[in-house]
This record gives sequence, C-alpha cells and structure tokens, in this order.
Amino acid sequence: MQPLMLTFFIALWAGRAFGATCDTAAPMALPITDVIVDPSIPGSFMRGVPAKIGTPPQDIVVMPWPDLNNTYIYDEEAFCDKTVIFSDTICAVRRGGLFQDAESTSFSKSSDLIAAGGAARELGNVRGAELGVAKLLSTSVGGTERFAIAPANTTTMPIGIPRMRWDHGYTILHALGLGANSTYLNSLVQAGQIPSRVWSIFWGRMWTDNESTNLDGSLVLGGYDQEKVIGKNVTQRLDYSEETGCWTGMKVTVSNLLVNFRNGTDFSVMPRDSAVQCCIVPQRQLLWEGPSDMVGTFISATQMNNTGLSFGMHWGAQQFDASDPRLFDGDATFVLSNGLSVRVPNSQLMTPFVAVDRNGSRIVDRSKRELLFSGVGDNPTTLGRYFFTAAYLMVDHDAETFTMWQANPSSRTNLVPVVSKAGDEGGCEEGGGANGDGGSAGGNGAEGGQGGGGDGGGGGANASTDEATASSVNAGAIAGGVVGGVAALAALAVLVFFLLRRRKRQDSANPPPLPEMASPAGGYTGGADGVYYYKTNRSGLQEAPGAELSPGELHGVSASSYGGATWAITANGMPPESRVTYEMDGGGVPRDYTSQGYPRFHSD
Ligand SMILES: *[C@@H]1O[C@H](CO)[C@@H](O)[C@H](O)[C@H]1NC(C)=O
Ligand SMILES: *[C@@H]1O[C@H](CO)[C@@H](O)[C@H](O)[C@H]1NC(C)=O
Ligand SMILES: *[C@@H]1O[C@H](CO)[C@@H](O)[C@H](O)[C@H]1NC(C)=O
Ligand SMILES: *[C@@H]1O[C@H](CO)[C@@H](O)[C@H](O)[C@H]1NC(C)=O
Ligand SMILES: *[C@@H]1O[C@H](CO)[C@@H](O)[C@H](O)[C@H]1NC(C)=O
Ligand SMILES: *[C@@H]1O[C@H](CO)[C@@H](O)[C@H](O)[C@H]1NC(C)=O
Ligand SMILES: *[C@@H]1O[C@H](CO)[C@@H](O)[C@H](O)[C@H]1NC(C)=O
Ligand SMILES: *[C@@H]1O[C@H](CO)[C@@H](O)[C@H](O)[C@H]1NC(C)=O
Ligand SMILES: *[C@@H]1O[C@H](CO)[C@@H](O)[C@H](O)[C@H]1NC(C)=O
Repeated sequence: MQPLMLTFFIALWAGRAFGATCDTAAPMALPITDVIVDPSIPGSFMRGVPAKIGTPPQDIVVMPWPDLNNTYIYDEEAFCDKTVIFSDTICAVRRGGLFQDAESTSFSKSSDLIAAGGAARELGNVRGAELGVAKLLSTSVGGTERFAIAPANTTTMPIGIPRMRWDHGYTILHALGLGANSTYLNSLVQAGQIPSRVWSIFWGRMWTDNESTNLDGSLVLGGYDQEKVIGKNVTQRLDYSEETGCWTGMKVTVSNLLVNFRNGTDFSVMPRDSAVQCCIVPQRQLLWEGPSDMVGTFISATQMNNTGLSFGMHWGAQQFDASDPRLFDGDATFVLSNGLSVRVPNSQLMTPFVAVDRNGSRIVDRSKRELLFSGVGDNPTTLGRYFFTAAYLMVDHDAETFTMWQANPSSRTNLVPVVSKAGDEGGCEEGGGANGDGGSAGGNGAEGGQGGGGDGGGGGANASTDEATASSVNAGAIAGGVVGGVAALAALAVLVFFLLRRRKRQDSANPPPLPEMASPAGGYTGGADGVYYYKTNRSGLQEAPGAELSPGELHGVSASSYGGATWAITANGMPPESRVTYEMDGGGVPRDYTSQGYPRFHSD
C-alpha cells in the first residue's frame, strides 16, 4: 500500500513538472571521462562526470550513484579512509576536488539537508552497501547551491556535505544521487531540461594498450543512447525492498560465467545448477565481486600465477605479472538468467594497475595486470562499473524498471527519449499528469511491454527461477569455505590458496618472495598504497610478527607501506567471531573490519 502511495505522489509530482515543458525537453548526454582534478598537478586525472558548483563555479568530478537520493559534495573534510588513502593530496584528487563553500556566494546553508529541500529518505542499513549510508542524511550539512553538469543548465538544488566517513573510500568521487527520488533528476525535470526521470550509463573503455581505442562513457538523462546498445533489451522491476538484499534495486541472476580462451574454447566456471544473484552497483570499482570459489576456479582455468591483490583504484582486484608468458589473453562472458549475455573483453577484464600517486598524479603501471574480480564470502555479490564497459544500463524511475542491453562500444551518439508514464500522450497539460498516475503506480503503466509482473521481468526470467537460485547462492558462498563473510578476506583466501599450491610445487623451505616492498617501513616506491604477504604455520612459512596462529590455521597478512599497519585474517574454518587482528611492532595500527570485510581504521 505504502509504496503504491509513494509512487502515486512521485508520479503526480513528476507529471506536473513534466506538464509544463514536456514538448521541448530532449534527453542529454553527460560525459564520463578523464578529468584533470587539480590544474596545478599535472596528470591528476580522475574518471567521472565533470561538474561545476557554486558562484563563481568551482570544478569538481562526480560519480553517478544509484542508491542515493540526495547529492553529497565533499568540502575540506573529505573523510578518506586513511588505511586506503594516506595523504591529503591523494584524498583531494580521488574525491574529485574539494568544494569550498566559503568561497561561493550562492551557497545557502540550512539547518539540515531536509530543510534545504533534500529528499527525505535514504536507504537504511543494507548489508553490502556503504556502511554509513543510513546516517548520511541526518548528519550532513545541508544547503542549496548552484550546480551544473554540461550540457545541462545550472540548477539550484539541495546538496549535503558529509560530516562523517560513510563510504569505503574505494568508490571515491562526489556522489551524484540518482535514486528513486533523486533531487538532481527532479530538479532537471522540473526545469523542463529533461523529459523524464530516466538515466542510462555506459562506462566507456579504459586503459587499453592503444590509447586511441579508449572510449569515453556517458550518463544519459531522460533516455538512452541508441548507438551504444546492441540487440534485444531485458527489463526488470526496480525493487528496493530489504528482502532482496540489493541496495540499488537492481538484482540479476548470473547463471553462468565463461572463460573465453583466445583459441575459441570456452570453459564454464559455474558448477551445474548453480547461479549467483548479483546486485548491480555501477559505481563499484571492479567488474565482479563474486563467490570466492568461483573466482578461484576462474583464475585456475586461466592458469595464471596470482602475485597479489590490488591496493590501487581497483582495490581488491587480483594482480598478475604482465610479463608472465601465460598471461590470460581471453575474455569473460556473464550469462544472465534474464536472457542477456555479456562478453567483457580482455582489455576491460585485465587492466593495468592504476593508482593516484603521493604527488597527486595518476599512475598507470602496465608491468602489472589486474583481474577485476574479488571474492566475497556471505556478502552480496555485485556487478560493478567494468560490467558496463560491455553492457548498457537504463534506469526508469517513472516506470520503476531497469533495462539492460549488450553495449556497443561506439563513440557515435543517438539519444532517444524514454517517457514511460502512462500519461505520456496527454501529460503535457497541467493536471494531465494525474491521469497517468494510476498506471505508473501499479508498476504496469509502462509502455512497450516494460514493467511486467512482479519478480522476474522480461527476457524469460521468472519468479521461480529467482527463488531456486537464491538458495544455491548461499550454498555457493558457504562452499567457498571462507570465513568472515567479507570481500577482502575471501579474496585473500583465494590468493592464499594459490600461493600455497605454488609452494607445494616448489618444495622449498624458503619464505615466499615478498613483493617489491619487503620492509613495511622501507619507504614508498610509488603507486601502491601497500603490499601484502601471506604466512602460515604450515609448510615452513614464517609467521607474522606477534601472530598467534592456531595449529593448522592459515592466515593472510597485509603489511602496509605507510606506518607499518598490519592486518591478518583467518581463511580456513574459523568463525568470524574468532577472527584475530594483528598489530605490527612499531606504530602498527589496530584494525578490525567493516561488515563489508574491508579493514577499518581505528584512531584509538
Ligand atoms: C608524480 O610521481 C610520478 C612518479 O611516481 C611521476 O611520474 C610524475 O611525473 C609525478 N608528478 C608530478 C606532478 O610531479
Ligand atoms: C522526494 O523528495 C522531496 C524533496 O526533494 C520531498 O518533498 C518528497 O516528499 C520526497 N518524495 C517522497 C515520495 O519521499
Ligand atoms: C529515495 O526516496 C524514495 C522515496 O522516499 C525511497 O523510496 C527510496 O528508498 C530512497 N532511496 C533510493 C535509493 O531510491
Ligand atoms: C539552457 O538555457 C538556455 C538559455 O536559457 C536555453 O536556451 C536552453 O534551452 C536551456 N537548455 C535546456 C536543456 O533546458
Ligand atoms: C592505435 O590505433 C590506431 C587506430 O586503430 C592505429 O592507427 C594506430 O596505429 C595504433 N597504434 C599503435 C601503437 O598500435
Ligand atoms: C584452447 O586453450 C585452452 C587453454 O590453453 C585449452 O585448455 C584448450 O584445450 C584449447 N582448445 C583447443 C581446441 O585447442
Ligand atoms: C525493449 O524491448 C521491447 C520489446 O522486446 C520494446 O517494446 C521496448 O521498446 C524496448 N525498450 C527500449 C527502451 O528500447
Ligand atoms: C519459469 O520457470 C519454470 C520452472 O523453473 C521454467 O520451466 C520456465 O521455462 C520458466 N519460464 C521462463 C519464461 O523462463
Ligand atoms: C607459475 O607457478 C608454477 C608453480 O610454481 C611455476 O612452475 C611456473 O613457472 C610459474 N609460471 C610463471 C610464468 O611464473
């Protein structure tokens, strides 16, 4: 009943705003591109959407954020996670430049974000989502400010300035809220700049060997880019309910993952009858956060030797030596139960190492390659931004649906408006919008066969399929044998497995070679935020300083290059509550873990 009412009001409101100007508004494409964040720092690139805020306008870079309604802009207090981002320069660049509200004559502070006209609701605590999101709305400084992303005109809209660290720090940039009650989309529709509360995303192509084959992405508002899609679309209902466990409202079922070898042979990673439900989170830094056993099977099938985990922009990705003669040169195909099959090309599956250096410049280190997978335990699995180098996503808040296609990596553009409200035709006169609300509120008012009943959506998925796969997801995650329920831990476990296997083959008592920074206090060699190594009391490997390992336990240890912070995990058979964290001699930073499994910083 309540969602119905909400929808009714949204539709009523949108219908009205739409009524004023719908005959003139066309969709527009905002670029997703490399932007120099700080002109005084050569090479201080971030990939995102360039925006201007304030008077006189200040340049910032924003990230489309489907699970927020309000837009959150960082000021000098940028709340970077010091265990991931260890200097103010790096923080300012990775946040996309910091907004100085004191320098803006148009910033008008309110008592809080809702008083400033902000959306009254954000998500509550959802496992897997950013930890602080439930408190973000109530704790942020609220105000109205002039905001513009070309080619959209300037609008004055409510913004929140975070006063707590709410994110992991890996997803970075200012957060442009594109949720169901997005203040940005609302303001553009209200101003008659776009025809509907629809947005679409294609991330483009990044870091290819030949720069000329890189491609900018785009965020289309009010429709989608017809040039950038191939074939039939699949449409499902947006479902923000807590039971789905998917905080963006976009849950799909991956029924198979294929390793596509260059010689044309495919290897199926998923066991028969297993399927994984994934939450689509297009701002996440990787391609897939999946069950660690499947990530392990994938790597194993490619026959590569894992050399580490990434601590750069692709935090948590699996690293490989680019000079390895067996470096995987094939692709990966995700087969979804809704009928879509998405083949991610090698260049977007195995990227170089990318980081922001201490001096603020972006580094692309091609001596390393990163497989953009990380293993999760019992946490929700996600399809992240690199999925949308090969797939195209459209979110229609008016119809309450999301639609996907295979992406066509083209620089050409042909924007098509999408106005899904049932009141479409007659909606241009005031009050006409009200007629359309009934259809929209039922979720079946969409034209063109969208918004089908209930669970599955278009393309052949149905409710029973989803039910059946839900249980096998759990089974799969548990079968991963990874404790802690956490992405990093699981990823580490995969790595430990490979290192151990390698050691067995080597038949040697020497400790494994440490990656380039053998001494945590030995200074900074550029690029990585840290290095890690793995130790166990088995196989003659050396133990971590101060570690208390139970017999037979296998631990992964990460030693950071800045200040000697060290952490450890238990990978086999230990329940989460028995997890141990370690402190290294000499200024170590005690840690525990967020519910997402990322190490959390304690300031004592
Ligand atoms: C930052 O350091 C890197 C090497 O780590 C160097 O290539 C780059 O030119 C430096 N950038 C600036 C602005 O000094
Ligand atoms: C959406 O946000 C506006 C403020 O931007 C608020 O007035 C309205 O109540 C919200 N709508 C819903 C359905 O929560
Ligand atoms: C946005 O606001 C709407 C209306 O209040 C609410 O239903 C929804 O959960 C909020 N969050 C997102 C991500 O849409
Ligand atoms: C932006 O403003 C200009 C000048 O007022 C107007 O001509 C143009 O149509 C506006 N663009 C949009 C998308 O509304
Ligand atoms: C890069 O690609 C362009 C266009 O495909 C081609 O003309 C050029 O020769 C390529 N450069 C290299 C170094 O491969
Ligand atoms: C293709 O390559 C893979 C991996 O090297 C190998 O397992 C497979 O047998 C090859 N297939 C053919 C037909 O050569
Ligand atoms: C998706 O496909 C259906 C037919 O399968 C079509 O009617 C609809 O217009 C398509 N949606 C979009 C946005 O192209
Ligand atoms: C729906 O699920 C049933 C049982 O799993 C299956 O037989 C049927 O083919 C599915 N229908 C579609 C359209 O996928
Ligand atoms: C990968 O590891 C295996 C087992 O230790 C070793 O024999 C092989 O030489 C390694 N391959 C490369 C390319 O380093």
